[in-house]
Amino acid sequence: MNHYLVAPAGTPIVFGELVKTLYDRFKSESHAISLSKKIQSFTGSRHCYFLNSGRTAQTVLLSAMRSIADDNRKEVILPAYTCYSVAAATVRAGLKIRLVDVDPANFDFDFEDLGNVDGGRVLAALGCNLFGVLNDWDRLNEIAQLGQYFLVDDGAQSFGASYKGRASGTLGTAGFYSLGRGKALTTYNGGILVTNNKEIASQLDEIVSNLPAAGLLQESVVYVKMMMYSMFIRPSLYWIPASLPFLGLGETLYEDDFGMSRLSSVQTVAGSVIFESILYFHTLRAENAMELASEVLDLGKFEIPGWDAKNCPPYLRLPVLAPDRDSRERAIEELRSVGIVATRMYPSTVRDIPGIEPHLASNRSDFPGARQLVDRLFTLPTHPYLTEQDFDNIVAGLRRI
Ligand SMILES: Cc1ncc(COP(=O)(O)O)c(C=O)c1O
Repeated sequence: MNHYLVAPAGTPIVFGELVKTLYDRFKSESHAISLSKKIQSFTGSRHCYFLNSGRTAQTVLLSAMRSIADDNRKEVILPAYTCYSVAAATVRAGLKIRLVDVDPANFDFDFEDLGNVDGGRVLAALGCNLFGVLNDWDRLNEIAQLGQYFLVDDGAQSFGASYKGRASGTLGTAGFYSLGRGKALTTYNGGILVTNNKEIASQLDEIVSNLPAAGLLQESVVYVKMMMYSMFIRPSLYWIPASLPFLGLGETLYEDDFGMSRLSSVQTVAGSVIFESILYFHTLRAENAMELASEVLDLGKFEIPGWDAKNCPPYLRLPVLAPDRDSRERAIEELRSVGIVATRMYPSTVRDIPGIEPHLASNRSDFPGARQLVDRLFTLPTHPYLTEQDFDNIVAGLRRI
């Protein structure tokens, strides 16, 4: 067995940050205020809420939007290729999913397809900014204004990126971030919701205050999980969790009965402590992505969605398109043999998630852009644990395909 394994994504949490988290947790009562101030000044959002996951944030946001919109607006536009939990949160909010195909060159909506949707039944559209590649928010805003529906900026994978000087997550009517394990700001799990819309905020004040808070036992459990994460995300130890199938690392499951609560105090403190280092990691990730992408493109066989040599996106993971499914599978195997975990991401389009059919607004099944991503996409790590030797191994591995 290979005892050196580079995780597909991750952000270091160092020992000192864990100690400070514990100290601050019991020192003062104002943890939420400290993180709020940081998020508000970083994003320019007046209102922010801390939840136990990105999917909870999305669910409560859609519920707040629903409570102030016309009754006939019960559909949410989603890209046909995205994280399964985006679909799950939409279903959890009691809404129907209206799928729009994506452009495999940048994960954005196929705008012709989007323009053809009858906006009269739509409550909101959700831009997912996959891997840190931002949607074209100017265009999305234009189309949403025509249909008079809300826009949700899903910044789960793009925290820290910006679009024309504005923070990702703030480009729609409201937005959210995930604090999950592979994300730029992680507290093992969690979510942050931001908005400047007063009407939505007043609904959210009520909905969020009615959610349960985490007890001391749950806080202790999650603190231990953060400690484990901080240790086992290192390439010298990652092989241990990766060899335990019951942990289900890298598995994509559809679950719309997830628990919903507010973020625990210890995670709110951790978020505030860790926040200080994310900009540094953000820069490292962008540098790694830049170097890796240039070398992968030089091989002449692969494409990189969203690639812009002059303005490299801060890829949370580097998405790569192989020529076909077979070479994608061979690339993943080859990379694993040199100690790199490359991932396939989502195993199907949203249309093909088992059991999703009753929740779709139409029975359309042709999503050629999304299907290309299902067949050809894999991702490479860009996180700060990547070494020069890993770069060489990745490029040498891909050259053999
Ligand atoms: C694009 C996107 N949106 C939403 C979510 C949901 O976030 P969470 O896992 O914190 O519920 C994720 C999770 O990975 C995601 O990738």
